[in-house]
Parts: sequence; structure tokens; C-alpha cells
Amino acid sequence: MKKLLLCGALLFSGLFTQIQAQVTWAGQVASIVYQHCTPCHRPGEIGPMPFTNYQEASAYASMISFTVQTRYMPPWQPDPNYSHLLGERVLSQQEVQTIVDWVQQGAQRGNPAAEPPLPNYPSGSQLGQPDTVISMAQSYLHQGNNTDMYRVFVLPTNLNETKKIKAIEFRAGNKKVVHHAILGIDLTGQGRQRDSLDPGYGYTQFFGFGFTPTEDNWYGWAPGAAAKYFPSNIGKQLPAGADVLVQMHYAPSSLPELDSSSINIFYDRNNQVTRLEQITEISPLNLMNGPFVIPANQVRTFRGRFRVPSEVSLLSIFPHSHLIGTDWKVYAVRPGNDTVNLINIPQWDFNWQGFYYFPRLIRLPANTWIYAEATYDNRASNPNNPNNPPQQITWGEGTTDEMYLCYFGYVPYQAGDENIALSTEDRTGILKLQTKLYPIYPNPARGELNIGFQLNQTADIRLSVVDLRGREVAELRAGKFEPGQHLVPFNSSQLASGTYLVQLNAGGKVETQKLVVE
Ligand code: HEC
Repeated sequence: MKKLLLCGALLFSGLFTQIQAQVTWAGQVASIVYQHCTPCHRPGEIGPMPFTNYQEASAYASMISFTVQTRYMPPWQPDPNYSHLLGERVLSQQEVQTIVDWVQQGAQRGNPAAEPPLPNYPSGSQLGQPDTVISMAQSYLHQGNNTDMYRVFVLPTNLNETKKIKAIEFRAGNKKVVHHAILGIDLTGQGRQRDSLDPGYGYTQFFGFGFTPTEDNWYGWAPGAAAKYFPSNIGKQLPAGADVLVQMHYAPSSLPELDSSSINIFYDRNNQVTRLEQITEISPLNLMNGPFVIPANQVRTFRGRFRVPSEVSLLSIFPHSHLIGTDWKVYAVRPGNDTVNLINIPQWDFNWQGFYYFPRLIRLPANTWIYAEATYDNRASNPNNPNNPPQQITWGEGTTDEMYLCYFGYVPYQAGDENIALSTEDRTGILKLQTKLYPIYPNPARGELNIGFQLNQTADIRLSVVDLRGREVAELRAGKFEPGQHLVPFNSSQLASGTYLVQLNAGGKVETQKLVVE
């Protein structure tokens, strides 16, 4: 009897898991793809094919399965088991398995009515209305000759006063070819001079700017990077009269492509910024096993270290080498031997670089040592080796030279810094609210619901419900309201079944939403 029961239970659970395991686009896969893939795989973004619906994604089902299993997609270079960084693009093992199962079971659609809607992805800006947009003055024509192009553009800000900044957002113009952007600030005029000496718009330069500008690494962007919003009282500065230098990498293309990129700047509107992010670096001057020379046919690992002179809060990190670099590992050892992992990039890829921010500020007391290890493979077997046969490689700014650089963004430590999150969710102080009435939910409505609206400034408002002939059937609120978001409870059962309009009149501006009462 017991045996029979057990048998039955096993059979039942077997059946159950089989039913459970039916994976469909509508049921499980669409939400994973929309969250992790479609931000890049949609028209106008850098993913080569769109995944905005079942047809588009299922057409690439086996390729999708392959790229997630190998962790080639979504692209994310740092090792998530070593340290956590902001905006990590990593699928959980379970999400990978779900996609693999889906494809193995024939990439079924499931019930179309149960599909989650395509999210409303931001366009123009992830953050709201910028205070100023600094744009390339001309479009740049990237040749369709299948080679990379590294080009610096000099963008005058025409600012006559220095501005504190709360957020920076790089907007790649032609997302098919723009592959990274490193921004600097120049007050020396040397950028303009170089531009005037090189025919065409901008000047060619593999990495950096070809000279030392006023601020070398103001910001660094790679595809998929979120807008940079600085938390708390931290920010950046854009000096009066400055030029923004943009060092751009254009990826190879078989067709000529035009690009016109821009930078959205959000000023410190509420005068919160009292501390500016500062940048320091580990370079060959810090090497314990220099000089920085990589002989032909050899693999060399360089180790450098840097002593933190006074207590700091670390915000960001940006390791950088060129083509034969293969990995990076950076960690800090606090006095008393407490080790903090900062970043590990086991397969360095020149095409995916920029500043990585930590989820929280990292406090490093004075006399902490930061160690940075980077390896270079100068053998013919390295497919990224620019020389064939291999040649000795040393420091330089050219494609065939190498670099050993790790930038750090930091501020001097202040009490409470370790509690500051760098999450981009916290954008208070820069979002410019538009006055609007939100769609009514649930709709059709029955009984209690909340009507939401937001105001960009203090306003005399009137919130009411009118019928389709424009007759007011209920007044919900009238009076002075503060800027921000508001919810007004409303019991719809006081209205007869039918279609109505909810109206928000805010200082003469009228917003309307449809309301169906069951
Ligand atoms: C940060 C942007 C970004 C995200 C997020 C992203 N991709 Fe991609 N994907 C790219 C780019 C760029 C390419 C083309 C360049 C390349 O192959 O490296 C690409 C190429 C691909 C390819 C073609 C590979 C090939 O060999 O040609 C597939 C398939 C793919 N992605 C699937 C996915 C899936 C599945 C996800 C989500 C789990 C995803 N991608 C997330 C940017 C992205």
C-alpha cells in the first residue's frame, strides 16, 4: 500500500513537473527578453536585430539560447561573482535555463492574450528634460570601409559661468556605429587647435585626446550604460568657457554611416552639490614589476599599487588597456588587511569600456592600498594582436600601442557616505515633472479606485468627472496643490454605468482621461 502510494505520488509529481515545465513566450520568456535584451535589441538601438515581439525573437530562438548559455549576451564584462556594480547586466541561472527550455520545447508562443506588453522604453532621455544639450556641430561621416575609427570632437559649451552638474547622459546618435565615448574638459584651446589641423570635422586619435586637457576623464560611456546621476551632495562641474572633448570609437561598418551624438546635461537645480567627483589613476608609475614593456611572443602580467593618502569614498572605476589586454583585477586592502574586491574583468574587450559605478560608496581609510593587475598577451595566437608577426609593444596612444590605466572616481569621505546608494532610481532634484493626469486604473472601474496626477509647479487645480456631453457629474478636488505626484481616492459606484471623462484643470491647462464605469 505504502509502495503504491509512493509510486502514485512520484507519477503525479512527474506529470506535475512536466506540466509546470512547459515554457512559452507569453508565460515566461517575453518578460525576461523585454527586461534584459530589448533595451538594446529594438529599432534605433545597438542590437543588430530587434526582439520586440514573439515573431522577431522566435526567428532567432536557437541563437538566443546559444548566446545566453555562453553568457555572450547580455554583454557584461565584469565578473558578477567578484563584485557588484551598478546596472549589472547578468541573467540568473534560472533565467538562462528558462530560455534554454523554451527553445528546446520548440519556442512556443503560448497564449497571446497573456503576453506582457512591450515596456515603454525611454527615448531622448532616461531622466527627463535636460537643462542643456551639447551636440556635435556637424554630422560626422564614418567610412564604410570595415575599419574602426577613433575620432575626437571638440564641443564648445559657450557657458559664461561655471555650472554644477547633477547628471550626465551621453546620447549616441547613430547607434549602429557609436561604440564608446570618453569625455574630457578642455580650457587650454589645444583641442580646437588639433581639430583645425586635421581635415574634416574632429581629429583622429586612438585613445585619449593626444594631449593632457584640463580634465582627462570627465565621463566614459559604453553601449547600454545608464545615464550618470550623482547621488546626495555629489556632482560634477562644467567650467565657464570650457569645451567638452568627446573621444569616439566608431565600429567597423560596410556602409558609410553618419553620426551626430549629443550630451544631455542636468544642472544642480536645488544647489545640492557641495562635493565634486574627483578622478585619480593607477598608471605604469605605480608598477611593482615594470617597466611597461611586453616583448613579442610573451604573456605578461603587470601589478601596480597605489596608497590612498587620506580617507575617501570610492564612487567608480574604469580599467583601460588596448587590444592585447586580456584581463583586469582590482582590489583594495584596508589597514588591518581587510580586502575589498573592486572589479574583475576576466576577458577584457576594448569595445566595452567606460566607468563602472559601485552600488554604494566604498569607504577607504587613509593608507589603504589599491592593487591593480592586468595581463597582456603578445603572441600570434591572440586574435586581437594588431601585429603579425608580434612586435614588442610599449606604452602609447596608438592602436598598436598598449596602456595600463585604471581610473577611480572618488570624493573625500564624509560621515554617512557608506549609506549613500548610487542607484539611478534616486533622481529627485533633476526630474522635471510635466503636469499630467495618469490613465485611470482599473478601467473599466467598479467601486474604489485612485486617480493619479502630477504637477510641475504649485497650481490651482480642479479635478472632476464629466459625462460625454461635458456635464460635470462629480467634483473630486479643487484648490491649491503642491508640485509632485498626488493620488485622489474615488468611489466609482456613485456613478451610473457608462463612459465618462476625468478632467484635470491645472491653472488653465486641461488633461483628460477616459473612465468606463461597469
Ligand atoms: C547592452 C546592449 C545589449 C543587450 C542588453 C543585449 N544585447 Fe545582444 N547584442 C548587442 C550587440 C551590440 C550585438 C552585436 C555585436 C556583437 O555580436 O557583439 C548583439 C548581438 C546579439 C546576437 C547576435 C549574435 C551574433 O553572433 O551575431 C544575439 C542572438 C543577441 N545579441 C541576443 C541577445 C539576448 C538574448 C539578450 C538578452 C538576454 C541580449 N542580446 C542583450 C547588444 C546587446
